[in-house]
Amino acid sequence: MVGKPRLRSAAVYGKRDRDGFIHRSWMKSQGLPDDSFEGRPMIGICNTWSELTPCNAHLRILADHVKRGVWQAGGVPLEFPVSSLGETQIRPTAMLFRNLLAMDVEEALRGYAIDGVVLLGGCDKTTPAQLMGAASVDLPAIVVSSGPMLNGRFRGQTIGSGTDVWRLSEDMRAGKISEAEFFGAEAAMSRSAGVCNTMGTASTIGSLCEALGVALPGNASIPAVDARRRTLAHLAGRTIVDLVMHEKPLSTFLTRAAFENAILVHAAIGGSTNAVVHLLALAGRCGVDLCLEDFDHLSRDVPLLANLAPSGQYLMEDFDYAGGMPGLMHRIAGHLRQDAPTVGGVSIGTVAAAGEVFNDDVIRPLDNPVSASSGTWVLRGNLAPGGAIIKPNAATPALLVHSGPAVVFESIEDFKARIDAPDLAVTADSVLVLKGCGPRGYPGMPEVGNMQLPQKLLAAGVRDMVRISDARMSGTAYGTVVLHVSPESHLGGPLALVRDGDIIRLDGPGRSLALLVDDAELDRRRSLLPVPPPPPNSARGYARLYVDTVLQADKGCDLDFLVGSSGAVVTRESH
Ligand code: FES
Repeated sequence: MVGKPRLRSAAVYGKRDRDGFIHRSWMKSQGLPDDSFEGRPMIGICNTWSELTPCNAHLRILADHVKRGVWQAGGVPLEFPVSSLGETQIRPTAMLFRNLLAMDVEEALRGYAIDGVVLLGGCDKTTPAQLMGAASVDLPAIVVSSGPMLNGRFRGQTIGSGTDVWRLSEDMRAGKISEAEFFGAEAAMSRSAGVCNTMGTASTIGSLCEALGVALPGNASIPAVDARRRTLAHLAGRTIVDLVMHEKPLSTFLTRAAFENAILVHAAIGGSTNAVVHLLALAGRCGVDLCLEDFDHLSRDVPLLANLAPSGQYLMEDFDYAGGMPGLMHRIAGHLRQDAPTVGGVSIGTVAAAGEVFNDDVIRPLDNPVSASSGTWVLRGNLAPGGAIIKPNAATPALLVHSGPAVVFESIEDFKARIDAPDLAVTADSVLVLKGCGPRGYPGMPEVGNMQLPQKLLAAGVRDMVRISDARMSGTAYGTVVLHVSPESHLGGPLALVRDGDIIRLDGPGRSLALLVDDAELDRRRSLLPVPPPPPNSARGYARLYVDTVLQADKGCDLDFLVGSSGAVVTRESH
């Protein structure tokens, strides 16, 4: 033990009165000795373990390894559950509930008399939600991620989570593989515990946690089933006690410099577009001034170095063996805000300096990048006055400047009903437009922006088209896909005014997205817009709260009243 910090738990467990008796007595029912309550840090282990969140289903075991580290360092580990979000299982979309989980985490961290917390998460929305909740309380905190699944292997080939679902699905719809071959890949793709093995949203967030300085090196890439992940969890248990003893709350690390490092790394790894909304929401909780344009401006000089699906060739297991995040940060060290601190006690510059690269094809050198253009392009124009984004390295270069007639779908149901209709008036030059999938309108902004291509065009060999929506897309997806159009169509944003045949011009390098219809006509259409019906299934409960208060994508889709922090103080007792 070092020093004598002001332990938050002491104000509760150290009380020599009836309240103290109550708090200690019930805890002693778990077999805790008296000295557990005499100046030892109480460490929460906030666990999103769930069998309905397969990517996090091994976190119960990892929690035991965190506990070893906490005990070893003189703390008292106390594991507790919060709700969990299985990206591939929960409907209508996990994003609807990210803020609910963040509220769950925030209230638990504040309400219980813990001194610090280890956040065990992994599947897409779980870690962002945990960090958002933790930031609004601001205790010492550290992230331990699930870690990626092992590489998928199918018929002698490596296949990656999500990315190869999209590819194989299109191959089947194009008649290139049979239905039996398609479904045969199911078990081969998901071979172990862990998160998607591509650089999807979960691995992106795991990587950004290293860049933000809130996770130990190796957090993103050590495979979920690798013994070294248990070691990482053990070390995180020791580290959180150290953070408590040195009184280093989460805000020590989540500074503007840390967010800038995260954005720089996001570009170099070809990270998920979902990270944009999560980082904006997290910055809002921390009081850090971050805007959509920061993603574009900061990443302009950072090339794509991680040769990982969906932007490249390899998977997360390969990334780990090649050096992982320390190796990647070593390569972009000159871009990083070197002095930013990390939970490990050294600066991010020190972590980067210690990194090594063992495979130059997986983590490319600066002079041989996967792609010179990377990061996030932020588009504006009369179709997206509040902004929209596109991931250039997931797109077809020739389509990044494109004009074409719109083929409009008013909802995801409309899209599914008509996209394969033989008489749909669509060509490879068309621009597919999907409405009604924004934060409020869906509700929850689902990952449907990478719309399937029309079957007749797939059969003709078309593999990409310009697609535009107010939706998100999976971090594992690819294509020339314009996402997060703001304001969303449900709120009467310009997307709601688009009609079949309107010409849309995408100019990626020029950062513009234009609907080539004159203003008078747009005003006329706006005056004819009907009052939208209430979003589906939102009459009551959490969904009602969500649709009434959710912010647009360019603000991170947090609930308006959750922006900011309430701190850790609780002024009243329970009895
Ligand atoms: Fe859970 Fe991809 S579905 S991480």
